[in-house]
Amino acid sequence: MFESSVYRNRREALKKKVGNGIILILGNNEAPANYPDNTYKFRQDSSFLYFFGLSHPGFAGVMDVESGEDILFGDDVTMDDIIWMGAQPSVKELALRVGVEKSFPFLRLKDVISKAVSQRRKIHFLPPYRFDNMMLLEDLTGIRASIVRQHASLDLIKAVISLRSTKEPCEIEEIDKACNIGYEMHVAAMRLCKPGVSEQYIAGVLDGIAASYGSMTSFATILTQNGQTLHNHDHSNLLQAGRLMLTDAGAERLSNYCSDHTRTIPVGGKFTDRQRDVYRIVLACHDKALELARPGVTYKSVHLAVCETLVSGLKDLGIMKGNTVDAVSSGAHALFMPHGLGHMMGLDVHDMEDLGQCYVGYDEETRPSEQFGLASLRMGRRLQEGFVVTDEPGCYFIPALIDKWKAEKLHAEFLNFDVIETYKDFGGIRLEDDILITKDGSRFTGEKRIPITIEDVEETMNN
Ligand code: GLY
Ligand code: MN
Repeated sequence: MFESSVYRNRREALKKKVGNGIILILGNNEAPANYPDNTYKFRQDSSFLYFFGLSHPGFAGVMDVESGEDILFGDDVTMDDIIWMGAQPSVKELALRVGVEKSFPFLRLKDVISKAVSQRRKIHFLPPYRFDNMMLLEDLTGIRASIVRQHASLDLIKAVISLRSTKEPCEIEEIDKACNIGYEMHVAAMRLCKPGVSEQYIAGVLDGIAASYGSMTSFATILTQNGQTLHNHDHSNLLQAGRLMLTDAGAERLSNYCSDHTRTIPVGGKFTDRQRDVYRIVLACHDKALELARPGVTYKSVHLAVCETLVSGLKDLGIMKGNTVDAVSSGAHALFMPHGLGHMMGLDVHDMEDLGQCYVGYDEETRPSEQFGLASLRMGRRLQEGFVVTDEPGCYFIPALIDKWKAEKLHAEFLNFDVIETYKDFGGIRLEDDILITKDGSRFTGEKRIPITIEDVEETMNN
């Protein structure tokens, strides 16, 4: 938790931006896994964390824009709770830690919201993504749970995004530390990646590192020798010599700030010539993004420049052909990179994705695309100093997609299907780092960069 003034300042800034009514920020509740007392690890809502700082279940925060008052709603523990959980600070004490003077039992939330509704005051809330909070919002506002998401306040969404997008120094410090855990995870994966070792074992070690230094992983670990499947959560294989192991994994600090890195490494510690050729192209794409990312540049233009680097590299290998710029504008390259260059990162690994990607990654100027591949770009708008984004190009040979495009002769003027056929057993490569946009460029987050050049990866794997 940061100093109480951090949260107070954020709430003041939010009230000013929203301008009227009542702002309601719901925290999360415990989520049962298989019976009520056996819950998933608790994860607080990120906007609640941002404005109210408390990682406890069963809280809600209200900001009254007109009176300027902030209220925390939550229940003090009972004697029964104390017997099982030990003594806990009171809600009043917790509220004061984050600069909130007024706190009430949770049931009083209904009175406050009902009164505001009866006075025809605007109730601003964010789109709920958990069903219990949809039901709570129905109870509080009278709007049916099934449609309550559609009634979320656009003014509040935009105000929250404008604040959370630019990371404060205290947040950058947390992200740097999360990336240091990410470094430990990925270097451990490099050391363990040997023929005969199971994917599950390495994934388990990585998850343990994340938990032992911080809170948990920032998303379900992707670790696979079938890296052509973009988000492959299957860990059932034994690693085979000659294959590539793709690891996309990150850590979440106790403060819930995240890291997100991907490395693709040769099982056994030595890249084959064919793997080197494709790896160098993906690394050149990654470097292209680093070269271009700076304040004032749209991330969409960086994504497109990276795609051109991919096409020109694939043309050198005889995989693609034709005019590079035309190939990218037609979307032909998306056969090999069907996802976007990156996303915002912060308290969420895909930061603020619950608030709507068209508001987080796009604006009036930069609109989302519907073209296959480009449609998956989560962050397109102009970069600003203080943004943290991922740079994660990839090149994949997805047999089912290749077969489909070949049968349909899709983008045949740019694709050498005969050559592509010979890569159907290749797998996929993705390389990902997290970058902070600085005054005149960008920097990696975290103290040390996870080995990424062919030489450094091989050396780390073999020593
Ligand atoms: N690292 C997982 C993702 O960005 O989707
Ligand atoms: Mn990512």
